[in-house]
Order: sequence, then C-alpha cells, then structure tokens
Amino acid sequence: MNEEIKDLNKIEIKYLIKLLPVFRKFMRDRKMSKKNDEYDYKIERNGRKAVDTFMDLGPTFIKLGQVLSARPDLLPKEYLKAFQDLQDKVPPDKFEYARKTIEENLGDITEKFQYFNENAISGASLGQVYLAKYNNTDVAVKVNRHNIDYVLKRDIIVIKRLLKTFRRFIDNYLYISISNVISDFSIRIYDEANYFIEAENLKRIRNNIKKYDIIIPDVIFVSREVLILSYIKGIKITDVKSLKEKNIDLKKLAFKLDLTFIRMLLRNDIFHADPHPGNLAVSDDGKIILYDFGMVGKLDDETRFKLLKLYNGLITKDADIIMDSLLELNALSPAANRGIIRKGIELSIANLSGRNVNEMDISELFEIANNVIFEFPFHLPRELVLYMRMSSLLEGICKTLDPNFRFVLVLRDILYNEGMLEELYRKELNEFVSKSVISIEKGLDVLPLLKRRLEETDGPVKKSDNKLYETIFLSAILIAMVLYAKINTVISFIVIIIDLIIFVFMLKK
Ligand SMILES: Nc1ncnc2c1ncn2[C@@H]1O[C@H](COP(=O)(O)OP(=O)(O)O)[C@@H](O)[C@H]1O
Ligand SMILES: [Mg+2]
Repeated sequence: MNEEIKDLNKIEIKYLIKLLPVFRKFMRDRKMSKKNDEYDYKIERNGRKAVDTFMDLGPTFIKLGQVLSARPDLLPKEYLKAFQDLQDKVPPDKFEYARKTIEENLGDITEKFQYFNENAISGASLGQVYLAKYNNTDVAVKVNRHNIDYVLKRDIIVIKRLLKTFRRFIDNYLYISISNVISDFSIRIYDEANYFIEAENLKRIRNNIKKYDIIIPDVIFVSREVLILSYIKGIKITDVKSLKEKNIDLKKLAFKLDLTFIRMLLRNDIFHADPHPGNLAVSDDGKIILYDFGMVGKLDDETRFKLLKLYNGLITKDADIIMDSLLELNALSPAANRGIIRKGIELSIANLSGRNVNEMDISELFEIANNVIFEFPFHLPRELVLYMRMSSLLEGICKTLDPNFRFVLVLRDILYNEGMLEELYRKELNEFVSKSVISIEKGLDVLPLLKRRLEETDGPVKKSDNKLYETIFLSAILIAMVLYAKINTVISFIVIIIDLIIFVFMLKK
C-alpha cells in the first residue's frame, strides 16, 4: 500500500510537469477562442502539442484524448481538430508479456495453437492483435496490454488528483464539466479493456443486424484479457484502388455503410460507435466487415426520439425545435440563459443563409453546432457525443469512397424510406392529441359537464334525449380514438378532429 502511494506521488509529479504547460496554454486558448470566432492556427499548434503530450503519457491519456476529441463543449475548435487526429496506434508490447497473458488464460501456446505469429498485426493503447491458428482455423487473437487494468487505475487516481490541484485555476462550470467527463471515463474505460464486454457487444450487434448481409467475426474464446475471433480477411475500406480492382461499386458501398450504421443507431438498442477505417473492411465480394466492438453507444427509445427531433429541427432550420430537443436531451445546463442560447442558434442558422442543409456536410453542420456548444454552457450527454463522433467518422469514409456523397441527404432518404420520420411524426401527433384532449377536457370541462348532464337526468336516460346520447357516443369515439391513435395515427387523428368539432358544436347547442 505504502509503495503504491509512493509510486503515485512520483507519477503525479511526473505528469504534473508534463501537463502544466499544456494546461496553461489550454486555459489561455480557451479564453481567446471564446472571444474570437476566427480559426486560429497558433491555437491549433498548441492543440497538437497537447496531443503529443497525451501520446507521451501513455494508454490512459491516449484514450482520454480520444474522448476529449469529441467534446466541443470543452475544447476549442482548433484543439478538437488536433485531438481528432490522435491515433490509437501504439507499438505492441514485447511478445513475452502477451505470451504470459495468453498462457495464464488458455494454457501453453504451442499446445493450444497450431500456429502463432508473434509479430502483432496491430498495436493499440489497450491491447494488440495477433494472427494464429486455433482448432485448425485462422483466428485473430486480441490480448490486453500488460498490466492494463493497473495502469488505468493508477493513472485515473493521478488524473483526479491533478484535477483537484488545477481546480482553483478553473471556473466552476468548466471544472464540473471536466469532472463529469473524467468520472464517466473512469467508469467506462474498464469496460473497453474487458473482452467479456466486447464479446457481448459483438453478439448483440450481430444479432440485431443479421438480416443486413454484414460480416462480423465469430467469438471462439473469451476471457477478460484474451479474445479469440474467427479471422476474416478484408480489404481496408479506404483502400479505394484495391476495391476498384475488385469491381466493387463504391457509391453503393458508401450508401450501404451509412445505412447500416444509421439503422443500428435508430433501430437498435446498441450501436458501434467507432467506425474508423481500421475497424471496417470489405470482403472480396463487396460485403462490409465490422471489427472492434470495444466502443459502443446505447440508445433507449426516448433518447432516440429526441435525437430524431433534433435532426428534424436541423433540416427544417427551426430554432424552437432545436432548443426543445436540446433541453429534452439535457444538453443544456439548467443555469443556461435560454434566450441567449436561442439567439446563438438562430444566428448559426442565419449563417447558413440560403444554403440547403441537405447539401451540407455533417462536419460543416457539426462545426456550426460546435461553435454554439463551445460558446454556451452545454453538457453534451455521452450518447450525443458518440453519435456525433460516429457520424463524422462515417462521413469521412463515405466521402473517400464517393466524393459526391451527401451524408445529410442520404440520412434524410434513409429516414424517410425506413419510415423513421413517420414514426417521429406519429409520436409528435400522439403527444399533440393527448395534449389537445387534456386541454379540451380542461378548457371545456367536458367530462364534468357530461357527468352533470347525466346526473340531471333522473333515472334511466330518456330515449328522447338524443343530444345526450350523441354526446356520450361521441365521447366514447373520442376516447377510443385516442387509444387507437397509438396504432394508426392518421386515420384516428382525422376522426378525432371531426369528433371534437361535432362534440364542441353539440355542447354549445
Ligand atoms: N477477426 C478479425 N479478422 C481479421 N482481422 C482482424 C480481426 N479482428 C481484428 N482484426 C485486425 O486487427 C486490427 C485491430 O483490431 P481491433 O479489434 O480494432 O483492435 P483495437 O481494439 O486494438 O483497435 C483491426 O484493424 C483489423 O485490421
Ligand atoms: Mg480498432
């Protein structure tokens, strides 16, 4: 225990020395960037230096840097750009470390594997991948980096301590935002290093998209530290030359890729949140291959609906809808001045001046959004961050495959063709209908009135009282239709409106 603390103090000082200049520049640049809208290359250079420092500080910081690269609420645009180029590519561990981990989890390598290539095909901050033959099939073996859980744990303690040290130099709002990001990071990063969870994600996603003709490897063996997958050979998705040689239609491929991810996002409970070129490939016959299920996002129906609504606000350039959905997504700090933010959004929309959103790149749209987000007290919820990250990555790949690819346009088509916007409207309509019914109930006091009329009539209702019969009949239809609205909105909506008109008319008579 004592030794660990000594170690911690030493490491804290080491990290502090490296991070202090980065922190000082960041605070200055952040202030500058808030005052100044112009892109500043000097600030970008500082951002790149920060990235170099993060790389130098090792796996935890590389992963944290990746998280920060998708946080327009924390980093100025110039830093975002620099952090987005941060690659999770690190030289693999010495093989002896990997051997030890594999043997602890599976037993003797030479006995278990018919072939094992000790030169990793890829090295990343949390693990590395080897090619091998297991049960006489070709496999990819993912192995955790040596002592990765320990390193993560140690670094997170140090990061939290450093944050406390820096606290007095940071305004309260920024401090809370950074603390939230770090506490979220410190919970989730262990999941990413845990192959049980990765295997679980893989299986869920495969099950969700099994009818879409996408290739996902089989899980052959899994433990916390080792994951063996069936080896699936593919052409790198950005290797346009090789894809063309195989006569693969790149336009179609781009569309299919987009379709796959949008479906995952909007139809399923879990989506692959890391579609960078290293995690995607194409088979010889043009099918998409997905690797790497370490980073996933999970959307519930409510959040999905709110995202759709936000998207809808963006296409219709409607500041009210945008504001509403951001509020519903809890993206706005309660302390935020809504009037000012609304102005900010309106200003950004005005900046689009006549440009059709459908023709813009997602990255351009996000740039506009990021400016607003950076300037005002936004708390971006993780799912929104992952969604933004996913779409930007996808757009980059789709544009490599098809330079004319218009993400927003394709997204719109997908939303229409898959009936998602219809679903959105149905839900809106449902809400509207329930609200109108409530307000009519309140405004006209329909039910008490009905009750009174019933009470007024002593004994069994007289046949002659047609009006009362009709009122009861109509209100029954009304209630039935409100229930039916959940199934078929358009018809029930029309009926409800007619019903209400007659109803009101009758009550007045
Ligand atoms: N099942 C597989 N078949 C073939 N290649 C694979 C397989 N799994 C991973 N790879 C290759 O290894 C690389 C790293 O694997 P990945 O799962 O992305 O690990 P990391 O989490 O370290 O990024 C991928 O980019 C891909 O090229
Ligand atoms: Mg990967």
